[in-house]
Amino acid sequence: MKFDQNCKKCHRLNQFLIQTKKNYPDYYCKPVPSFGDQSAHLLIVGLAPGMHGANKTGRPFTGDYAGLLLYETLYEFGFSSAAASLNNDQLELYDCRITNAVKCLPPQNKPLPLEIKNCNSFLNCEIINLPKKSIILALGTIAHIAVLNALGLKKTNYGFAHGSRHELINGLILYDSYHCSRYNTQTKRLTKSMFQNIFKLILQERGERNAIY
Ligand code: URA
Repeated sequence: MKFDQNCKKCHRLNQFLIQTKKNYPDYYCKPVPSFGDQSAHLLIVGLAPGMHGANKTGRPFTGDYAGLLLYETLYEFGFSSAAASLNNDQLELYDCRITNAVKCLPPQNKPLPLEIKNCNSFLNCEIINLPKKSIILALGTIAHIAVLNALGLKKTNYGFAHGSRHELINGLILYDSYHCSRYNTQTKRLTKSMFQNIFKLILQERGERNAIY
């Protein structure tokens, strides 16, 4: 199903957005759309908008602590026009698109299984419309499982591990990374160089794929 900015499928999330809008009238407080061109060959899938980040700005990972490492790395590897994504700036993504497994702000950053399921048809639409030879990068296990579900693939056949590469269907390749969350970066579960290594693999993969016709 195509993304719907007025989706109210999840009662709990809808109520939370209404309450959050009362507390922060200037915040976006709606389902956050994907950012970047639909024709991009790299789709990055995060978890869900953060309260004072994507939920405030309306753009994935923008204003979120988790966006610091992400946008810095995207810039370094040529996927973005700037190293930081601030509210309402002119930042452009190059051949890259960013989305979330869950489009609405969840309480305590924890969407319920039903909410992830409800939102999966948006991700399905996103993925089936990717151009040929596309690569997906899942940030964390929830994103990884959401991608598999969106394609009707069994998670037992594609285990999550940081740095792993999975051949999905229709030539789609999935890479996994630990989520670039504040917790993961501050505890060094995910370091800058670990994250850079994922993008090195992606660039290499993209180069190899473009050489084959
Ligand atoms: N912000 C997002 O948009 N997604 C995440 O997964 C984390 C922060």
